[in-house]
Amino acid sequence: MLRRMALSNTKVSDWQALYKISYNAVCIRDTVSSLPQSVQLFREISQAFSEDLHYISSLISKVVDFELSIAEKHFTIKPNVDPAIDEKKRKMMGLSDFLTDVARKELDNLDSQIPSCSVIYIPLIGFLLSVPRIPSMDENKDFEIEGLDFMFLSEDRLHYRSQRTKELDTMLGDLHCEIRDLETAVMTQLQEKVVEKGPVLYQVMEYSAQLDCLISLALASREFSYCRPTLSTEHSISIRDCRHPLVEMCTGMYVSNPVLSSADEGKMKVITGPNSCGKSVYLKQVGLAVFMALVGSNVPASEAHIGLVDGIYTRMQSRESVSVGLSTFMIDLNQMACAVNNATERSLVLIDEFGKGTNTVDGLSLLASSLRHWLHPGQACPHVFISTNFHSLFQLNLLPESPLLSYQVQRDTESQSVTETLRETETYKHRERHTVTHTQRDTDTLCLSVTLSQRATQRDTETQKHKDIHTERENTHRDTLTHAETYNHRRNSDMGY
Ligand SMILES: Nc1ncnc2c1ncn2[C@@H]1O[C@H](COP(=O)(O)OP(=O)(O)O)[C@@H](O)[C@H]1O
Ligand SMILES: [Mg+2]
Repeated sequence: MLRRMALSNTKVSDWQALYKISYNAVCIRDTVSSLPQSVQLFREISQAFSEDLHYISSLISKVVDFELSIAEKHFTIKPNVDPAIDEKKRKMMGLSDFLTDVARKELDNLDSQIPSCSVIYIPLIGFLLSVPRIPSMDENKDFEIEGLDFMFLSEDRLHYRSQRTKELDTMLGDLHCEIRDLETAVMTQLQEKVVEKGPVLYQVMEYSAQLDCLISLALASREFSYCRPTLSTEHSISIRDCRHPLVEMCTGMYVSNPVLSSADEGKMKVITGPNSCGKSVYLKQVGLAVFMALVGSNVPASEAHIGLVDGIYTRMQSRESVSVGLSTFMIDLNQMACAVNNATERSLVLIDEFGKGTNTVDGLSLLASSLRHWLHPGQACPHVFISTNFHSLFQLNLLPESPLLSYQVQRDTESQSVTETLRETETYKHRERHTVTHTQRDTDTLCLSVTLSQRATQRDTETQKHKDIHTERENTHRDTLTHAETYNHRRNSDMGY
């Protein structure tokens, strides 16, 4: 809006908005000044929302005639702002009586067949004599009247220029344009004055947005019973009855879940479960709860202890776009690479079904090698929550034994009394493992020391290098995987998945 103003391209709606902004900002400042100034934001608002806002709002309200501006769709000023404009407007107002007199005199000079006539003013064209079309006037040549210049026919009325209207044009014809020009000059002056005070408007935007966010968080917290989190410098996250703030509003019966991550409870959670059992929602709620706690909000839970987190890395949703110029799998890889390269033991990493965008062996290998990277002794393991349907991850013993690693099964349970499907989380410690040593080595080859995306390109070369040794094993390995997946599916259905 200020940019439009600097370019002298201000619309009537801009003036209205600017008036509302500055007027309301003054009200906000007055309210906030009476509140405890120990709150930093209140103190900043009281200082930053200066008298300039009052100046802007009163200047606009004194000058701009909003009602007329909206009706006429252009900037119109109020009376008593500029005497020259007032004078011209008075003339313009008196014009209708004056023109009625002129019309009466003109009618006396016209043919007696013409029953009436009027004098009209059309901006940019000037004064015209307007007479109704009578039945005898059929063709163009019938429109000619002696002593008058025919101009045009519109809505069954003929318009002419007479000697008198030409005189009026010279005397008063520019009146309308003159008023517009003078009003535009006033608008330019007003614009300059507002642009001069521009910095205060930027402050208003900044602080109002902060205030708005904090008020919204406080209201949501009260309305939806959020709890106040305890922040600490420990490397742990512990949330009781954690909920997703948006999904809980859309579903009739939301089932809250616990979130636990620490060196004692394990920092890497591998979550499995059938489709639509709430894995993605669970990951998002963990991220949201931690984020909300860190921005100073209460969190949707009954109790929350959040150790400070230095970053949240996600591989959740890949938005494809031709403008990005990357395949979905490449986008996934970049996100994973970012997490692998940057996450520290204080970071939170959320990975939702990574590896689905490529063939099973590659996807599974990349996923396993990323997780092994974090579980590697001496490596600072971030808080990792990962959902996957690669059951082979533990069935083929792809991850090392580690106290940091635990498996969670997200599952639906049908409530007896409620027909809705309820979700709950169960934490499983290590499951029975199948030892497939060559898969382990294959995964080791892919262990990430450089970025995953680089690895993806390197993989072909590596595979080629080990082709001789692996060809036979590769085949056996694929067979094993297929069998393992099938076995797993059967086991799942046995378990009521
Ligand atoms: N804890 C929960 N309580 C109630 N409904 C849930 C819960 N978690 C998820 N849902 C519902 O289940 C749907 C599927 O969840 P989603 O996380 O996408 O499943 P998944 O990722 O396992 O396929 C969600 O759209 C939501 O409506
Ligand atoms: Mg999902």
